[in-house]
Amino acid sequence: MELRPTTLDDLPALHGLFADAIRGVFEPHAFPTPGPRLEVFANQQRHILETGTSVVAEDDGRLLGFGASWQRDEHWFLASLFVDEAAQGGGVGAALLDAVWGAAPRRRTITDAIQPVSNALYGRHGLIPATPILRFTGRPHSDGRDLRPEEADLAAIDVAAYGFDRAIDHAYWEQYGLRTTWPGAYTYTFPGGEIGPVAGLDAAAAARALAAELARADGDVRVRIPGTSRALVEVALAAGLRLDPVPGLLLLSETVTPPTALAIAGYMLF
Ligand SMILES: CC(C)(COP(=O)(O)OP(=O)(O)OC[C@H]1O[C@@H](n2cnc3c(N)ncnc32)[C@H](O)[C@@H]1OP(=O)(O)O)[C@@H](O)C(=O)NCCC(=O)NCCS
Repeated sequence: MELRPTTLDDLPALHGLFADAIRGVFEPHAFPTPGPRLEVFANQQRHILETGTSVVAEDDGRLLGFGASWQRDEHWFLASLFVDEAAQGGGVGAALLDAVWGAAPRRRTITDAIQPVSNALYGRHGLIPATPILRFTGRPHSDGRDLRPEEADLAAIDVAAYGFDRAIDHAYWEQYGLRTTWPGAYTYTFPGGEIGPVAGLDAAAAARALAAELARADGDVRVRIPGTSRALVEVALAAGLRLDPVPGLLLLSETVTPPTALAIAGYMLF
C-alpha cells in the first residue's frame, strides 16, 4: 500500500468510493443512504484540499481509501475517512488516520452513530462521542418573524460558538450559500433548503436567528444540530420539523467543550 497526497483529478473516484462505503454502513440496517452528490462533495473536498490535508491510499494504482482533515488555529477536524469495502479491516483506515492526524491539540470529528468501527478507531485515539448530531427536516412553521437582520461580528461569533476562527470557511460558504447576520448571530442557507451553519454569541442569539431563518423558509429545509445546542433543538421541534434517522455523533478530544450555540455546516466542514 502507498499513501500520497490527493489531487483534484481524484475527486470523482473518491466520491464513488465514499458513496459505496456509506452504503455499506446504512444498507444492512435498511436505512436510506445519505451523502452529498458529486458536485457538493467535490466542492467541499476541494476546499479541504486547499485549506487542509488529504491523503489517498493505493495498491498498485487501485484506490483503497482516503482521509482528509483540516486545521484552524489549534483546532483539528477529521473531515473524511473512507476505505473500500474489500480493503476494510486490514489497517488502511488506521494508516490514513495517522497520515492526516497533524499536530493540533484540540480535536473533533463527526461519525454515524451506527458505525462501530470508526467510533472505536477514533475512541482509541482519544476522540470520544460527546453529543448526538440531530438531523431535522421538513417544512417549518416558525414565529420568529420579528427579528430583523443586522450587522454582526463574524469572528467574535465563531470564537463563541465554534471556539476558533472560521474566516477561510466563510469565504467558501459565501460562494455557494446566502449568509444573513442577525443580532449576535449568523445563518447560512443553501439551494435545496439546507440551513447551516447557524452560530451565535450565545445559545439564545443562535436560537433566535434559527427561528427567524425558519420563519422565512418557503419550502422544505434540513438542519443538523448538536444535542448540546439545546435552545436550537427546541426551536427546530417547535417549528414542527421532523427528526430523521440516523443521528450522527460529535466526537471530541478531552480538552474540547461541546457546542451550545450552533447548528453545523455538515459532517465534512463542521
Ligand atoms: C471506518 C473505516 C474508515 C475504518 O477503516 P478500516 O481500514 O476498515 O479500519 P482498520 O482496519 O484500520 O481499523 C479498524 C479497527 O477497528 C476495530 N474494530 C472493528 N469493529 C470494532 C468494534 N465493533 N468495536 C471495536 N473495535 C472494532 C478493528 O479490530 C480494527 O482494529 P485493529 O486493527 O486494532 O484490530 C472503514 O471501515 C470504512 O470506510 N467504513 C465505511 C465508511 C465509514 O463509516 N467511514 C467512517 C466515516 S466516520
